[in-house]
Amino acid sequence: MVALAFLLLAAQDFAGSKSCAVCHSAIAKSQSATHHAQALGWTSDGRWAFGAGVQAITYVSQFDEDTYVEHGLSWYRKSGELSLTPGHASREGAVYRTFAPDANIMRCFQCHSTGRLRLTRSRAIEPGESGVRCETCHGAGAAHAAQPTPSNIRNPSRLTSAAINDLCGQCHRMPPAAGSATNFENPWNVRHQPVYFSQSACFLKSGGRLSCLSCHGTHEDSPPLGGAKCAECHPKPEHTTPVSSNSCVSCHMPRVNASPLLAFTNHWIGVYRLTGPRANPLRPRQQRARR
Ligand code: HEC
Ligand code: HEC
Ligand code: HEC
Ligand code: HEC
Ligand code: HEC
Ligand code: HEC
Ligand code: HEC
Repeated sequence: MVALAFLLLAAQDFAGSKSCAVCHSAIAKSQSATHHAQALGWTSDGRWAFGAGVQAITYVSQFDEDTYVEHGLSWYRKSGELSLTPGHASREGAVYRTFAPDANIMRCFQCHSTGRLRLTRSRAIEPGESGVRCETCHGAGAAHAAQPTPSNIRNPSRLTSAAINDLCGQCHRMPPAAGSATNFENPWNVRHQPVYFSQSACFLKSGGRLSCLSCHGTHEDSPPLGGAKCAECHPKPEHTTPVSSNSCVSCHMPRVNASPLLAFTNHWIGVYRLTGPRANPLRPRQQRARR
């Protein structure tokens, strides 16, 4: 009985990326340099730093046994300075109860770390491992690390495109459930890539051939997307004016300012009005009917 209980537990245990690195050293080396791996850090003066700094870093610290504070000032790359944290009206910071029913502060750590969250004796939140590491995408891997076979570890390459939307959507937000409404006109929602992407004709009409992994690296940050990826399915797009072969994304996946200091890529691939009085980089304009 004891042995069985141990095995059941072990089957769901996290090993940590250091353990994966023993056998998958090249992957571990490149993945540790990604923004995913750096999504959570610790500053020299004892604060949690959320965000790899691609666009912003927000600081969080424990205030007392029951509360955490999200600092009112975040660092932004665009300005190179501290400014108000998104959603904050003052520099005071926002206080979160550690055990609030909505678990908002725990959820920050959940999406920016890997493995199980633990609490120390002083009720400080302790992530299993900082950043988005191996077992976020591959599942708890202690059993595999102890006895490696392909059958005891998840390989997302076997997932369907829709299931990949869901895997990434755990943190990048889920595609909307059938019948539920998303406010596509709210620029803040553009950062929810799976939500917008799931509306694209490219996704809906390509028979499951297009997923997050078509354009994004897994163990390395993605290089800029050239036109070759689009050309796989659109070798000769019809345009009324000439376009250059590598500029597809600038018109069909426009950057949107979610706030003055943050911008995200609209993943609803489509034809947009980008200039003029009815410009709208959030919702594609109606396409002409096709034969
Ligand atoms: C003791 C060495 C060892 C450790 C530790 C280890 N692996 Fe593996 N892993 C292997 C070997 C060997 C294979 C290939 C198995 C085969 O093809 O028979 C493999 C295969 C895989 C695969 C591919 C499975 C497939 O579908 O073919 C993934 C994904 C994987 N490992 C992830 C991990 C992760 C994540 C960790 C850490 C939790 C980890 N491995 C730890 C040795 C290891
Ligand atoms: C556990 C939560 C989590 C999961 C699951 C997750 N991500 Fe992320 N991802 C993040 C966080 C947090 C960041 C922000 C990193 C930073 O601070 O720059 C991020 C950043 C990114 C970026 C931007 C990287 C850059 O260079 O700026 C891409 C692209 C991305 N993720 C793609 C994916 C894809 C594709 C999947 C699914 C295979 C996925 N993510 C799954 C949490 C997650
Ligand atoms: C549901 C998962 C989730 C939760 C909860 C979450 N984040 Fe994130 N966070 C992400 C993802 C995914 C990204 C990457 C966004 C992108 O680049 O599209 C990110 C990015 C960031 C960034 C980088 C700047 C930016 O806006 O892209 C900061 C800073 C950040 N999060 C702080 C926080 C803080 C603080 C909390 C809690 C108050 C929190 N996050 C809660 C998933 C989450
Ligand atoms: C953001 C999600 C994500 C993270 C984080 C991640 N992987 Fe993967 N991994 C994938 C996907 C998707 C595949 C299948 C497609 C591919 O090969 O790129 C894969 C494939 C693999 C494979 C089998 C294919 C091969 O190239 O040998 C191994 C082994 C592996 N990952 C190990 C790791 C290890 C070790 C880490 C941590 C250092 C890690 N992965 C982190 C998504 C991820
Ligand atoms: C895996 C194949 C595939 C890839 C890769 C792909 N698309 Fe598509 N795309 C499609 C399909 C299928 C349609 C629907 C065509 C139709 O309705 O006849 C489509 C439709 C479109 C449309 C019309 C949108 C609408 O609302 O009618 C545009 C614009 C477009 N794609 C641009 C792009 C760009 C730019 C890229 C590269 C970033 C890209 N596509 C990559 C398959 C793909
Ligand atoms: C057709 C190609 C394509 C697909 C499919 C795709 N992306 Fe992207 N993604 C891009 C491009 C292009 C950028 C902008 C990269 C840059 O600025 O260098 C981007 C940027 C991002 C970023 C950085 C923040 C931002 O919004 O600019 C994240 C996070 C991200 N994608 C996540 C995802 C996730 C999750 C999926 C699956 C739901 C996905 N992407 C599917 C092309 C794609
Ligand atoms: C300067 C902005 C711009 C650039 C750059 C651009 N497009 Fe377009 N695209 C448009 C507009 C506008 C339309 C609607 C038709 C028209 O007015 O030309 C369109 C239509 C399309 C369509 C649907 C029409 C059809 O073929 O049935 C596809 C697919 C497409 N573009 C793909 C691409 C690809 C692939 C690239 C990169 C090689 C690209 N576009 C670059 C603006 C652009």
